[in-house]
Amino acid sequence: MKIKDLSINGKTFLAPLAGVTNLPFRLLVKECGCGVVCSEMVSAKGIFYNSKKTLDLLSSKKEEQPLSVQLFGSDPDTMAKGAKVIQDLNIADIIDINFGCSVKKVVKQGAGVALMKDPELSKTILTAIRKEIDLPLTIKIRSGWDHSGQQAFEITKIAQDAGVDAIIIHPRTASQGFKGKANWKLIKKLKQQLSIPVIGNGDINRVEDAQKMIAQTGCDAVMVGRAAMKNPFLLSQIDDFLVTGSYKPPSNYDIFRTMERLTEMYVAYFGEKPACKMLRGRLSWFIKGIPGCSTFRKNLSCINSKHHVLTLIKEFETGIV
Ligand SMILES: Cc1cc2nc3c(=O)[nH]c(=O)nc-3n(C[C@H](O)[C@H](O)[C@H](O)COP(=O)(O)O)c2cc1C
Repeated sequence: MKIKDLSINGKTFLAPLAGVTNLPFRLLVKECGCGVVCSEMVSAKGIFYNSKKTLDLLSSKKEEQPLSVQLFGSDPDTMAKGAKVIQDLNIADIIDINFGCSVKKVVKQGAGVALMKDPELSKTILTAIRKEIDLPLTIKIRSGWDHSGQQAFEITKIAQDAGVDAIIIHPRTASQGFKGKANWKLIKKLKQQLSIPVIGNGDINRVEDAQKMIAQTGCDAVMVGRAAMKNPFLLSQIDDFLVTGSYKPPSNYDIFRTMERLTEMYVAYFGEKPACKMLRGRLSWFIKGIPGCSTFRKNLSCINSKHHVLTLIKEFETGIV
């Protein structure tokens, strides 16, 4: 598919996941195979004030490209300046604007999904950003602010007219959070209404779900979030399945090598102590269902060095072979 002049290999996007899609995790998913990886959401205000924590989120490597960097905020000028800073850093292939985050801290400042109840402000923000950058521009929305779930129609029309190049839709309302089912019918309706590409998101847990979403909605590509946290191979499996009709599930060997790889990359990027703290929760995502996983998970809770993590992984692997 193409977004503006960017050609994308495959039909899969790794969703932006705050606290998860940091540089090492994105590189891991990229190595496993996927179309586009997305950064965690980055605060436009944070960029404006040169916040180190924000600027750290903009770390990138050529190997992960194409990369979509997601920006959030509510002030048109700050958003446009933030987008320009990202463009000038030469790390991003796409800039995505967050219209979907329903976390209180974000909504309180009028950003994320709160923008969906303010079409005028949304238009001003998108027009200001479009004026400032040439990079492909996307927005990631929910179905709407209130229960009607109707704001998606107005906001996407505004976005298309303002020069946005593609829409990503997670069809749940703001108040739904992650409850209930994603309303894929809305993806279909938006696809019929818009001339720019539509990327469908929500509740893709297995390869077959992605194929179903494309068949049922006509969306141009799919975005996967939570399921990729557990199975970083899922996006490449989806791309394989869409092209060949089959895919290869990862072997236990592949899974353990992936765990080691993530450990190495986390330690190199975050430093040994912080990486170990983060890996306590992270590594157990990959081994759900493998016999002995609960003991492994318990053992992970006290890891404090790379050597310790790698030893536990080896012991677990040896124990099940
Ligand atoms: C831990 C977590 C963090 C998330 N962070 C973001 C974010 O930074 N920006 C965003 O647009 N959506 C974010 N989302 C929403 C996901 O991108 C995605 O829309 C949602 O999880 C539905 O897709 P899924 O069913 O494939 O997980 C987050 C979701 C989770 C679970």
